[in-house]
Amino acid sequence: MGKRTVVVMPGDGIGKVVLPEALRVLEAAGFAASWVEAGGNPLPQRTVELIAEHKVALFGAITSKPKERAAAELRPELRDRGLSYYSPIVGLRQRFDLDVSVRPCVTFPGNPLNFVRRGADGGLEEPRVNAVIFRQNTEGLYAGVEWTNPPDNVWQALDSHPKFAAFREVPREDLAVSTRIFTRAKCRRICEEAFAYAARHGYDNVTVCEKPNVIRETSGMMLAEARKVHEAYPGIQLWDTNIDAQMMWLTKNPEDYGVIVAGNMFGDIISDGFAGLVGGLGFAASANIGREVGVFEPTHGSAPKYAELSPSIVNPIAMILSAVMMLDWLGEGEIAARIRAAVAAVVAQGRVRSYDMLKLRGGASALAQGAASTSAMTDAVIAVL
Ligand code: NAI
Ligand code: MG
Repeated sequence: MGKRTVVVMPGDGIGKVVLPEALRVLEAAGFAASWVEAGGNPLPQRTVELIAEHKVALFGAITSKPKERAAAELRPELRDRGLSYYSPIVGLRQRFDLDVSVRPCVTFPGNPLNFVRRGADGGLEEPRVNAVIFRQNTEGLYAGVEWTNPPDNVWQALDSHPKFAAFREVPREDLAVSTRIFTRAKCRRICEEAFAYAARHGYDNVTVCEKPNVIRETSGMMLAEARKVHEAYPGIQLWDTNIDAQMMWLTKNPEDYGVIVAGNMFGDIISDGFAGLVGGLGFAASANIGREVGVFEPTHGSAPKYAELSPSIVNPIAMILSAVMMLDWLGEGEIAARIRAAVAAVVAQGRVRSYDMLKLRGGASALAQGAASTSAMTDAVIAVL
């Protein structure tokens, strides 16, 4: 088989810093691929074509523009057409129907950022978190079906619901409506992927984290589909929790949870919550997976305040672990496991630590205080490899 081709989209800010670090690690581990670079700007046609052709992409991060600034930067002939700007990654998810987001949150022993709690005997406990969040990635509140000052037909449709009586007297321009649309097919697919993953990786529980007692239609549909999918997995327990209570339990018994499945917004929230227990943004990796295409990216953004620091101080591990998820998806499990073990060894040895791991204030002075630079972290991983 020939060399694989991977589309790389560094984006901007620290995306441009961490992505090349991940490529260095992949190459050092013996993953042979051709990299085609696409800018990572808001979805230029070329990027879309490259991803359509090669099916797999690694993404750094890109700065989202606020609505007003994006509108001001639009070419004059496109202004005032009711177009709105979406973050490129949200655009990519929709364009390629990357409907399954996977966010593993797994403790690396020895990470000073690991969650600790006080046990019943007064001593400190460091529970080993091993949760993987499956977030529906294209629907719900992030699908963008929303209005301020809704047009007549929308207002009338809303008004046909008895519970809308509470809003009928509100002036239209003071009314903002964001819809939460779930479809049975997508609920079904995220649940199927979650259970299949749990079975494949030996997890004995899957938790649906929604709010079906209040958001009856959408959360209710997710839970109903999870129950149907569960029938094929008698060896796995199905639990359901409410997102608010789940956030509270995060610091009580996070080690009890295995695979978690949620709609778009609650999945976003719960995955950040779990990521906070295992090192935060410097460690949080993610995959966006469709039926044909996979796009892999760290959870963090472009961190503009650190973008221009030279040498860079940001932690490349989140980006490296995202590249490792790509390897798993491509069937390169052996290389993936070696890189993951190398990252674990660097964290456990504790000799080379980025500023976040040392709990230092970010900035140029972090290096003088003993923090490793971005490239020193990568070098340490490569040295173990
Ligand atoms: P951010 O994730 O870029 O940074 C927040 C803070 O987290 C940073 O200031 C830094 O203290 C820490 N941090 C982030 N990455 C780190 C790393 N690798 N190592 C160590 N510390 C790290 O979030 P923020 O500041 O809210 O967003 C900045 C821009 O990025 C915005 O324009 C936002 O819209 C965009 N963004 C883009 C994403 C994407 O492209 N997928 C995802 C999230 C945000
Ligand atoms: Mg988020």
